[in-house]
Amino acid sequence: MMTRLYCVGLFLLVAGCGRLPPPEFRFNEVEWLKQQKVHLPDGEQFPLSYRQEVGTVLTTLFGTPNEPRFPFLKAEIHHWGTSGAIGAFHAPHALESDRNPMEVVSLAQLYRAAGPVSSNRQGTSFGLYRANCAHCHGLTGDGAGATATAVQPYPRDFRLGKFKFKSTPLRSPPTDADLTRVIREGIPGTAMPSFRALSDEDVAALVDYVKYLAIRGEFERRLLAELADLDGQPLINLATLREQKTDSASSGSMDNELEEQIFLVVGEWLRDEILPRWTNRDRRVIEVPPPPDSMDATTVEHAALVAQGRQLFYGKANCLQCHGDTGLGDGQQDNYDDWTNEWLKSPGVDPLNRQTFRDFLAAGALFPRQIRPRNLHVPVYRGGGDDATLFRRIAAGIEGTPMPSSPTLSSEEIWALVAYVLALPYEKQSR
Ligand code: HEC
Ligand code: HEC
Repeated sequence: MMTRLYCVGLFLLVAGCGRLPPPEFRFNEVEWLKQQKVHLPDGEQFPLSYRQEVGTVLTTLFGTPNEPRFPFLKAEIHHWGTSGAIGAFHAPHALESDRNPMEVVSLAQLYRAAGPVSSNRQGTSFGLYRANCAHCHGLTGDGAGATATAVQPYPRDFRLGKFKFKSTPLRSPPTDADLTRVIREGIPGTAMPSFRALSDEDVAALVDYVKYLAIRGEFERRLLAELADLDGQPLINLATLREQKTDSASSGSMDNELEEQIFLVVGEWLRDEILPRWTNRDRRVIEVPPPPDSMDATTVEHAALVAQGRQLFYGKANCLQCHGDTGLGDGQQDNYDDWTNEWLKSPGVDPLNRQTFRDFLAAGALFPRQIRPRNLHVPVYRGGGDDATLFRRIAAGIEGTPMPSSPTLSSEEIWALVAYVLALPYEKQSR
């Protein structure tokens, strides 16, 4: 009903709802600019045709915000319209793959999270990402939604494929359980809200959609990084590729052919570099060894464990370097996170001189803000405050931030640090 009224309103405005152009993913302007600065002599630019080619490749493999696709995923999926009309959507042509891409995402889930906000007669909701996430994380998952600049830290840009609060080691993406937890619980102390009211099915669809945006974003950056090596040659040269093609078995529609050619050129990066990161994540979860009995705060030995942790914190483990010599988070301050360093480390850019990065800001980069080490006197843990989670946090660090992993500490020492971190908020501040 609401939709219909809305439609009538829009009808008057633009003369026909059907004529609104479908939304598109935003091109990664910042990476485009950075690649040129890194690889080309000052002032020179890549041929503009590359932008179009990158766009064609991305749309062919990943679809659009209304009609997602996923490489290697061969499935026929029903597209549930708002009116309940069912049309068959043919997922992208798939090349044979030895990996089962269903481990990474399901196209049916993507369809629930993508598209405009709606629901069908059975009460199933669609457009979950646009309804709940896009105003912060952006339609493209670039972390630059409408409210982005109003919050600190900025909403996450998923396109780097880096996540902070997870049970897996650095450089490994989070498990589905990790993403589920972040969406359900939110990230305390940041603008990331909790979505406890969403059903399990809705959250599962959003988990897949976050992975989809991350993988699409990683792949886009991979494509842009390739451009400098092309020496002005086209990225996907359809004409040449067609000549090279030996079998003409599947010379069907132009669409299919284009897709096949694209896979010939870029399929390997997806199959061998990008997607493998996202498979078997569950097997990479960091095992947490059983805590010593003295972790129990009611035991007599607990005080000794806390004291050991304290000694490590200000000594061998060197936590004070950033968290400060009283744990207030007032140590080293002049760091930026990886999302900012992505472009801030480009040639000629001085973080303290706005003039040197005006072009990046114009390209959509958010104004660089230093990342603060946490004030550990406030017992708010963004990634979760239970013992096992803090163990993993100290052992593995926080990806994308200066918070390091602790490969030289024994499990016993890490447990002592967990005990100290948990005791710190109740410690007198003058040491
Ligand atoms: C009001 C703004 C806001 C909304 C709405 C929002 N987020 Fe976030 N989100 C954030 C911020 C801010 C961060 C970064 C927190 C940080 O870096 O500590 C974040 C981080 C994340 C992360 C990264 C977690 C990690 O471990 O690194 C994921 C995943 C995420 N959000 C998913 C979602 C999804 C899915 C939705 C919609 C259901 C959503 N967010 C809605 C602000 C928002
Ligand atoms: C090089 C700087 C640096 C060092 C060294 C460092 N940290 Fe951190 N730490 C940070 C930063 C920055 C954050 C905030 C990251 C964020 O939330 O984006 C952080 C966050 C944390 C958190 C909060 C986790 C959460 O879920 O909210 C804990 C706990 C923590 N650090 C403990 C430690 C301990 C214990 C050590 C020593 C073993 C240590 N840190 C060493 C920079 C550092």
